[in-house]
Amino acid sequence: MAARPRPRPRRFADHRLLRRLLLLLSLALLLVLLGHLPALLLRRANSLGRRCLPAATDRRLLFFPRPVPGPRLSFAIVTLADEDASASGGRRSFRGVLAASARNKRAYAAAHGYGLVSLPASAVDPGRPPSWSKVLALRAQLRHHDWLFWNDADTLVTNPEISLDQILFSVIGHSDFDESPDLVLTEDFGGVNAGVFFIRRSKWSERFLDTWWNQTSFVHFGSTRSGDNAALKHLIDHLSAEEMKAHVLIAKMQCLFNSYPWILTWKSVHRLIFHLPTTWKGVYSDGDFMIHFAGIDDKPSWTNKILGEI
Ligand SMILES: *[C@@H]1O[C@H](CO)[C@@H](O)[C@H](O)[C@H]1NC(C)=O
Repeated sequence: MAARPRPRPRRFADHRLLRRLLLLLSLALLLVLLGHLPALLLRRANSLGRRCLPAATDRRLLFFPRPVPGPRLSFAIVTLADEDASASGGRRSFRGVLAASARNKRAYAAAHGYGLVSLPASAVDPGRPPSWSKVLALRAQLRHHDWLFWNDADTLVTNPEISLDQILFSVIGHSDFDESPDLVLTEDFGGVNAGVFFIRRSKWSERFLDTWWNQTSFVHFGSTRSGDNAALKHLIDHLSAEEMKAHVLIAKMQCLFNSYPWILTWKSVHRLIFHLPTTWKGVYSDGDFMIHFAGIDDKPSWTNKILGEI
């Protein structure tokens, strides 16, 4: 039984459908624009007035390009070697990230005269997830340099003008090596981050690294969390107030040397709304010293994107 088509109402219905489609389309467009707005704004955090280096030293840095007084200290960047990716069964794409990161660090270290120690495959303890081996590598290198700067492999120097002594001077406030803290860290949403930090040559640091390595109950296989960060957090949380004050410094601004890019996800929108100050302090913005692709799945395309920009 075929219905007789009636031209007028149908045209009317077509119109309504079109209007609805247009409305939906503009709503979708609005959502996309709103979604990208935070990314655009956060990316400009530094030009919107955020200060990652404390303002006082910032001005001093402006007047004296090489402001850090006292004897020149020896630094080494310690990181994971690029050939390790195959040894630890890493995905092909991650090997590209490691190679790009290694090139980036080599150029930075060479420009400033820093040592660069890439953790060789032989230094990776097969009994633990690879990221635990940073503790062994730092322990082995500690006696050779004044300061070690640990970098996870998914990091890039994005502002090579900034030197490591400027960063430490700005956060410590003086350049007396013996009076300096031993561990300089940043905090993110989850507390202290073990992906990028400084450790000073000292007896305290040696003992701290040994104690860290001894936290075997935190060793965790088969998940994204290998346990080394949780163990560090546990140790820091259980230091006495005096020991904390004398030996550990947590930078007020995460973006001083450990900025995370902001990407549009439910989680990041939630954090933006409920943890705005933490997001603001840690988000990657143009001019920041270092970007860290922490918790980002697509590290290769982010690495390429940032390398293309800087
Ligand atoms: C770490 O564990 C080893 C072996 O059990 C022990 O000899 C050493 O004293 C421990 N070191 C620290 C600092 O806890």
